Amino acid sequence: MASVPLTRQAAQALDSQYPSHAHLFAIPTLASLGLTKPTSGTQDSSSPSIYFCGNSLGLMPKATRAAVDAELNAWAARGVVAHFRRNDATGDGLEPWVSIDKPLAPLLAAVVGADGEDEVAAMNTLTGNLHTLLAAFYKPTQARYKILFEDKAFPSDLYAFQGQAEMHGLNPETALVPLKPRVGEYTLRTEDILAAIDEHKDSLAAVVFSGIQFYTGQYFDMETITSYAHAASPDIVVGWDLAHAAGNVDVRLHDWGVDFACFCSYKYLNSGPGGIGGIFVHRKHAKDKRARQAGWWGNNESTRFAMLPDFDAIPGAQGFRMSNPSVLNTVCLYESLKLFEKAGGIGVLRARSISMTTFLYRLLAESKFYVPVTEFDEDKKPSFTIITPEDPVQRGAQLSLLFSRDTMEHVFEELDARGIIGDERRPSVIRLAPNHFYNTHEEVYQVVKALNEIMSGL
Ligand SMILES: Cc1ncc(COP(=O)(O)O)c(C=O)c1O
Repeated sequence: MASVPLTRQAAQALDSQYPSHAHLFAIPTLASLGLTKPTSGTQDSSSPSIYFCGNSLGLMPKATRAAVDAELNAWAARGVVAHFRRNDATGDGLEPWVSIDKPLAPLLAAVVGADGEDEVAAMNTLTGNLHTLLAAFYKPTQARYKILFEDKAFPSDLYAFQGQAEMHGLNPETALVPLKPRVGEYTLRTEDILAAIDEHKDSLAAVVFSGIQFYTGQYFDMETITSYAHAASPDIVVGWDLAHAAGNVDVRLHDWGVDFACFCSYKYLNSGPGGIGGIFVHRKHAKDKRARQAGWWGNNESTRFAMLPDFDAIPGAQGFRMSNPSVLNTVCLYESLKLFEKAGGIGVLRARSISMTTFLYRLLAESKFYVPVTEFDEDKKPSFTIITPEDPVQRGAQLSLLFSRDTMEHVFEELDARGIIGDERRPSVIRLAPNHFYNTHEEVYQVVKALNEIMSGL
């Protein structure tokens, strides 16, 4: 890749090597985004936008609409009967609703590197799942009560940690250990995370990081951190919030010995806004009957409808489900998961992703407005740096660009006006994430060209 020239032709050659799956997705057009005045001569209002925001909300697989329609038809045609009976004659509906999430499990297991369907479940949404897993796995004692996590974790995660500590009667000030990057650095060094584990190892109950940091795009060394914490003490549990990692990078949760993980599915798993979330629970915990926020959907299926007074947990992740899942959300996720399989699996997609994001990094680093992160001065305008690690092993699809003071909003608006959709994190960051399904190297080329044009006008 380092030798690939940074030209449009080179981008097109890479696109032949790594074909796009854009035809499987609904790509917003300039017109559908309400952009009626294209800023480039080659565009008209029916031109597709360049959507680099799958890190926030993935685009809709075209097959999703029919899948949702089929369940609406099943509802219309059979009402409550659809819980237990498909109508094979009409073909509406995927499964009886009582088992609507069954077909998802093997596909979900493949995407997050579980060893089998028993290690995953589609359920709830992300913050709810984080609470559910912490309720089961964070069991502080007088001696061991701390949670180690990244400073500036997504606020919902922080609130969950605070709430969990408080529910155990602990003071979050002492129970929570947020880890900051070194002064002048944006990302955490693995060696510093391991040193913090060492420092707190006698009082740590849990290590819970995000797989990929939402702001910086840093992909933590999940395997090393997990195994190090376990080696420091078998009483430390290690959990991961994979909001920005699931469907983005090829995590191997089972092989890495991760205790638990949770994720949403509306980002790289393309399940739609507010889509159903998911969990992973390692098989080593399958039968430990730990106390949990129990609900009837986690109960032994053969006795679920007998309504017995004692909870009989399904061994594994499925035993953490509480409620019958939203059928519409579940089939949306199913349609997306089938595309991962169709594309050859997460490993193949990750290779395409690395190629595009590396091309993006290299093009950005060639810009006359780019300044290496160690030399960046926010008062030298106009300029930008990249706070995401350059090493592909330490990042997923997303690059986070940090702009000189009072520059970002203008750049963001101008990109938007050209139908280039990223997202902004005020005051100064734009996140750009070429998606391995529906973006192309040529789009990467166009985005950097537009960025350079916009910054030249500042
Ligand atoms: C890292 C992380 N954690 C938690 C959340 C909250 O997700 P939800 O609203 O689905 O609970 C998000 C949402 O973007 C996130 O990125």
